[in-house]
Amino acid sequence: MRTKYWRTIITTIVFTLFGPLLFEEALCEKQGFSRGTLNIHSFPDEETLIQIETNVHDTNVIVIAFLDRPNAKLIPLLFTANTLRSLGAKHIHLVTPYLPYMRQDTAFHKGEGISSIYFAQMISTAVDAISTIDPHLHRWKKLDSVYAIPSKVLHAGDKIAHWIASHVNMPVLLGPDGESSQWIHSIAEKIQAPTLILKKERLGDNTVLSSIPETQPYHTHAFVIIDDIISTATTMIQAIHHLKSQGIQDITCIGIHALFAGNAYEKLLATGVSQVVTGNSIPHISNQIDFSSMIAMLK
Ligand code: R5P
Repeated sequence: MRTKYWRTIITTIVFTLFGPLLFEEALCEKQGFSRGTLNIHSFPDEETLIQIETNVHDTNVIVIAFLDRPNAKLIPLLFTANTLRSLGAKHIHLVTPYLPYMRQDTAFHKGEGISSIYFAQMISTAVDAISTIDPHLHRWKKLDSVYAIPSKVLHAGDKIAHWIASHVNMPVLLGPDGESSQWIHSIAEKIQAPTLILKKERLGDNTVLSSIPETQPYHTHAFVIIDDIISTATTMIQAIHHLKSQGIQDITCIGIHALFAGNAYEKLLATGVSQVVTGNSIPHISNQIDFSSMIAMLK
């Protein structure tokens, strides 16, 4: 006699907060997940109410949240997670293409807090897992060191290497500071390009001092400056200044995460740089490197 058994198939439902639906579409198309809908209502006094329209009882949920400029997004995100949980979601996986607050990974000055820890604590109590693309891992060597939930880090290196290989002839890769060397070296290895890494000291939000690169051997090359984050663009602009003052004209800037605070993008273009290219972890006019296929692999 054959034993009868029933296997419960748990549905996965994907929601997107604060940004475009392209990652949600890619994920659902690739893996057959369902798409969910929710409303974020802001009351006249600016309190937030979340309403989940899709039945999430006994489901796994993936919340894709674009968390650049995170402060105003944090309460809606935490309330979304709480609401999903109260409606019976079994497992909540936060996918944040750009993970904020990672740069304050120590107390740089007396009396400062370590925001990366505080942000991680709030997220870790709200959701069950987190995935992101190239978080700013510097003093924290792994996301697990600061997040108490299972985490997955996706790397943009292959996508950036592919973009450079198909758009730049004879590239030399320049890292504008020590932290960037992790991306520079892994991309350089993929496309067999020479590298230069600058030393940088940040004196303030809009002031950095970086070392002058030895560009002499590369005067026939095209320079590609790569950083994980472009925020004020001060780091990039200082590196461009060093290159231009040595007669280098062909300069491409690549940022994984296009934060672009204030008029940073316009300031960067005004340097006369050949092109500014970013990944689409943060929606911006400069997005040319699509991370959809990476996000589509997440479960
Ligand atoms: C810091 O170490 C990061 O890797 C970036 O270099 C930095 O966030 C860029 O900031 P900004 O564009 O404001 O110079």
